[in-house]
Amino acid sequence: MTAEITIIGSGRMARGLAQTAIRANRAVQILGRNGSQTRDLVESLGAGASGGIVGAPVEGGIVMLAVPYPEVRNAVRELGDGIDGRVLVDMANPVDVSNFDRLVTPPGTSSAEEVAEMVEGRADVVKAFNTVFPATLEAGSVAGQHLDVFIAGDSETAKEKVSAVVAKARLRPIDVGPLRRSRELEAIMLLIFGLQVSPAHENFNWDTSLRILP
Ligand SMILES: NC(=O)c1ccc[n+]([C@@H]2O[C@H](COP(=O)([O-])OP(=O)(O)OC[C@H]3O[C@@H](n4cnc5c(N)ncnc54)[C@H](OP(=O)(O)O)[C@@H]3O)[C@@H](O)[C@H]2O)c1
Repeated sequence: MTAEITIIGSGRMARGLAQTAIRANRAVQILGRNGSQTRDLVESLGAGASGGIVGAPVEGGIVMLAVPYPEVRNAVRELGDGIDGRVLVDMANPVDVSNFDRLVTPPGTSSAEEVAEMVEGRADVVKAFNTVFPATLEAGSVAGQHLDVFIAGDSETAKEKVSAVVAKARLRPIDVGPLRRSRELEAIMLLIFGLQVSPAHENFNWDTSLRILP
């Protein structure tokens, strides 16, 4: 079975996203750079998951970049023409985790926009999933509330494709507008991370979720 979604990376978000994809009934391909970790992840996911090493042919029409911000552009480069015509999902939070006090992106741009600039129209870049966490993705809900997944992008079709997966996985997709809204999606996580690591808010942790009510 050809996978509809390819995830780059085999870490924490890769696992949460793969579970989300499987919940949405989409076959998922994991491409990691660590063979044994990728194999373990694929085996633990069971039916609907396949995997390989980065460099193998990309199957999915949607490619999710589940790699740390400093590696995002390397990962895109390593995909070569595997990104052509794809929807490329950036989820990076370019927060300086040494102090949780600043974003490491230059002013006036965002991780997602940097990716879009790099791929020069060969793929449609969408920002999504940066406000959810692996454990909350796995659970699908926090405190009885289904998660919101905020989606930014300049291609309506690309956003619709990602939204369809999110909705089928019983999460709520929210289209927040053009790709430049990624700046706010990334900046809000600077604020949230700061609260999560603050001793003043012992109930805020990595299982916190951002949701607009109702
Ligand atoms: N964790 C969260 O709570 C969270 C929440 C929202 C968004 N995000 C974002 O999601 C992304 C992934 O975070 P994570 O928590 O899943 O990180 P992680 O657990 O550290 O996993 C990162 C994965 O990326 C792989 N990787 C690194 N460089 C690569 C490259 N050039 N090509 C292919 N694979 C590469 C790593 O491989 P190796 O094992 O070989 O190093 C690892 O499998 C980050 O951008 C992060 O900002 C994370």
